[in-house]
Amino acid sequence: MGNRPLGVKVGSNLVGVRLEVRLPRRSDSDAVAALFAAAYPARVDELARRDERVRRWVAADGARVVGSGSFWPVRDRRFRMDLTVAPEHQRRGIGGRLLGLLAGAAQAAGATTLQARTESDRPEVLAFLGRRGFAETMRMHQLVLDVASATLEPYAGVERQLAAEGIVLTTLEDEQHRIGDACWYRLCAAHHAARDGWPDPDPDPDPDADPPQPPAVAEFRRRYEEYARLLPEPEPCILAVHGDEVVGFTGAIGTGVRPALRGQGIATALKVRVIAEVRERGLKTLYSTTANPAMLKVNERLGYRLTTTEVRLVRRLQELQGAVPDGQTVR
Ligand SMILES: CC(C)(COP(=O)(O)OP(=O)(O)OC[C@H]1O[C@@H](n2cnc3c(N)ncnc32)[C@H](O)[C@@H]1OP(=O)(O)O)[C@@H](O)C(=O)NCCC(=O)NCCS
Repeated sequence: MGNRPLGVKVGSNLVGVRLEVRLPRRSDSDAVAALFAAAYPARVDELARRDERVRRWVAADGARVVGSGSFWPVRDRRFRMDLTVAPEHQRRGIGGRLLGLLAGAAQAAGATTLQARTESDRPEVLAFLGRRGFAETMRMHQLVLDVASATLEPYAGVERQLAAEGIVLTTLEDEQHRIGDACWYRLCAAHHAARDGWPDPDPDPDPDADPPQPPAVAEFRRRYEEYARLLPEPEPCILAVHGDEVVGFTGAIGTGVRPALRGQGIATALKVRVIAEVRERGLKTLYSTTANPAMLKVNERLGYRLTTTEVRLVRRLQELQGAVPDGQTVR
């Protein structure tokens, strides 16, 4: 489907309402932003970002925008979506119609899966998505740390214990000075190895698919730098190194440890070092996001507090081909 204007009249089952689903106009932007902020309060910072790949439709009751839905590709034909209907217009079929449109358009654009998100305390949204073929893939916990009151003392000796095993902590910056761009190869290799057990919000719909190949180092570095720019405050990238190998890391690309070395305190030591460094710099708050239970444990025992939990749910579009033209058949 191209970007032609789409005017779908869906007023038939909506008593007293003449609803039009269409492409957004410039004048709709404030209304769309307000709907998004109400539905996804933890993601309001995304409103400032413009992404040309996002395709959006709005549901309008006359001049008033009462719903909005969008999707965008993430990787390998896996797409994500947002959907929101104004509270006073809910339970009238608007969300179902928008969702049907999104699913059909995403499939036509080549999507094999579509991921939706909501916060865990919204059982009505979880039920709405569940009835329309979405299955939960992960729970992403958002955490916040008051840096001054972090619990570091019980873990002060972990770094020394690791050093006795030949594992030392350093920073990406220091490694860059010491060995030049080779540090990016080593970090990229460690990041790829740590994917084992790293929760994937958009799992491959084909269980027999080959495991993903490591990205080219230049692409990995580009992604790292992109994520670093999105951090609310600059954070150091700390590496755990054993000989010539990076065995663990924490930074803009998350925290990871090579599978063979997990459970020895490496992630704990890395996080303790980050907190101590930002405390030194006078930073008051750190944020973290994780779906991994071990990482959640590490963060919480250092003093991070859980703020919200976002549920990610995925619908397989290819499997449902033809069965759900308007989001109403799968219940
Ligand atoms: C998460 C990860 C970084 C932890 O690294 P690690 O070096 O093993 O962490 P630590 O040894 O410092 O501490 C892990 C703690 O979690 C515990 N743990 C392990 N698996 C757990 C599980 N499924 N549920 C709860 N706790 C678990 C460990 O027992 C340990 O606690 P303990 O010290 O009281 O025994 C590592 O498992 C990893 O790389 N996973 C894949 C990448 C990933 O998902 N990263 C998180 C992205 S945000």
